Order: sequence, then C-alpha cells, then structure tokens
Amino acid sequence: MTTTSLVIGGTSGIGLAAAMRLAAIGDSVHVAGRRGERVAAATGEHPELVGHVLDANDRGALDAVFAELGTLDRLVITVASSAGAGAFSTLDVDVLRSAFDAKYWPTVTSMQAAIPHLAADASITLIGAITARMGMNETAGIGSLNAAVEGLVRPLATELAPIRVNAVSPGGVDTPWWDFVPAELRAQLFAQTAATLPVGHVATADEVAEAVVFAATNRNLTGTVIETDGGARLGPVAA
Ligand SMILES: NC(=O)c1ccc[n+]([C@@H]2O[C@H](COP(=O)([O-])OP(=O)(O)OC[C@H]3O[C@@H](n4cnc5c(N)ncnc54)[C@H](OP(=O)(O)O)[C@@H]3O)[C@@H](O)[C@H]2O)c1
Repeated sequence: MTTTSLVIGGTSGIGLAAAMRLAAIGDSVHVAGRRGERVAAATGEHPELVGHVLDANDRGALDAVFAELGTLDRLVITVASSAGAGAFSTLDVDVLRSAFDAKYWPTVTSMQAAIPHLAADASITLIGAITARMGMNETAGIGSLNAAVEGLVRPLATELAPIRVNAVSPGGVDTPWWDFVPAELRAQLFAQTAATLPVGHVATADEVAEAVVFAATNRNLTGTVIETDGGARLGPVAA
C-alpha cells in the first residue's frame, strides 16, 4: 500500500531534504510552499515530488489540498520564520507577532486541517529550534516562538494518540533560511560557529532531515523533541 507524505515547507532547506529522503524510502511525497516558482523548482529538480502552492495560514487552501490527497500517513511541517531575534527590552512586539504568524499559527492551522485526513497510525513531525532551550542573549522572542511550537508536541502526543507527534530541534543549519545574510558574512559566521561546535561543522539540511525522517517513521517514538544541534547546547568546545 502507498504511504502518502506531505511536507508543508517542503520546497526548500530542511523540508525539501526531508521530502527527498521520504521519497527515497518509497513514500508518495507531496511538498507545499507559498511561492509557485519554488514549488516549480523543487518538483522540476525532483520529479518524484508532487508540488502544491499553498499558504499554511489559509485554512480553506489547506482543506482543499488535504481533500485532494486522501488519507495522509506522514505530515511534516517545516514553515519558517526568521523574525523575532534581538534585545528583549527593545524588541518590537509587532515584529514578534509577525514571527508567530509566520511559524506558530501556520503550524497549528496545518495540524488542525490535517487531523480529519490522518491515518490512524499517522505521524506529525514539527520543527522547533535550539533557541527554545538555550540561554542565549537576544533570543527571548524567537526562542519563545520555538518553545511554543515544541510545546505542542507532548499534549498532542496523548490527545491525538495513536497518531504520533514529535519535533526536531536543530541548531544552525546551512539552508536558504540564511539568505538574508550576505554570502561572505554568512561564510564567516558559519566558519566561526563551526569552530565552537563539538561536531566541528554547521549542519546540512540533509543531516537534520535524517532526524525528521526518523521521527516520522519510527513507530515507537512519540511526544519527543529530537535535538540535532551539533552539540551547540553544551556550550563552546575548548579553544
Ligand atoms: N536554518 C536554520 O539555521 C534553522 C535553525 C533552527 C531551526 N530552523 C527551523 O527549521 C525549519 C525549516 O527551516 P529551513 O532552514 O529549512 O527554512 P527555509 O529553507 O527558509 O524553508 C522554509 C520553507 O517553508 C516554506 N514556507 C514558509 N512559510 C510558509 C507558509 N506560510 N505556508 C507554506 N509554506 C511556507 C517556504 O517556502 P515559501 O517561502 O515559498 O512559502 C520554504 O519551503 C523552520 O521551522 C526553521 O525555523 C532552521
């Protein structure tokens, strides 16, 4: 029987890497994102993926895609927000609200729309971030956003059981999420970060995607947040 997966945010970065890994294990994989050109690029490069132009804040559009897919076995949500960092005392509350609009609310809306269409043994896999659990200056906003996403996992793992609900919590990952930083500066930043990390390198999207697929497929895993951060949460390695 075909296993159907949908990756919302699957047209770039971690989501696209997860979609390719799910396709490689034989799933029928659908990817969704807001920008048609990104959907076309992802499905053009990876014709095994089926693309959908979709804004995960749009409940009507979500309902239409889920109705088209039929029964869904694995839902992965990797929508991103880059807003919400900065010194707390001057953090613009409207910017922080926009960060929740970009990541938390689409995550919630997607899950609510998916529930009637999920197989009894389906999995839902979310993406948080290390900022949810590390004491780092200037991350109170973005960290509380990711804590809100990760906070959905445990209660929903019992409320929706036997559907499994997990999250993956990465540190820095080399994906287009970082495109707002000029290339030269980004290379410097990644090199500096790599030097402090126990694993000695900044994660690739595929490394994080491997954890996503583990969460999505392992039948004994639920209510878990998998940390895949190269050891960043342990603090910097000795110079
Ligand atoms: N990269 C990192 O360093 C890092 C670190 C920690 C956590 N994370 C988390 O990992 C997740 C994936 O990040 P990434 O680095 O892979 O980001 P990315 O490369 O920017 O990909 C984000 C994807 O989400 C889609 N998307 C965004 N908003 C959407 C919406 N409302 N509806 C549908 N699709 C939407 C984007 O396509 P469109 O823009 O076309 O919609 C794109 O496909 C995010 O939750 C991010 O917060 C990333």
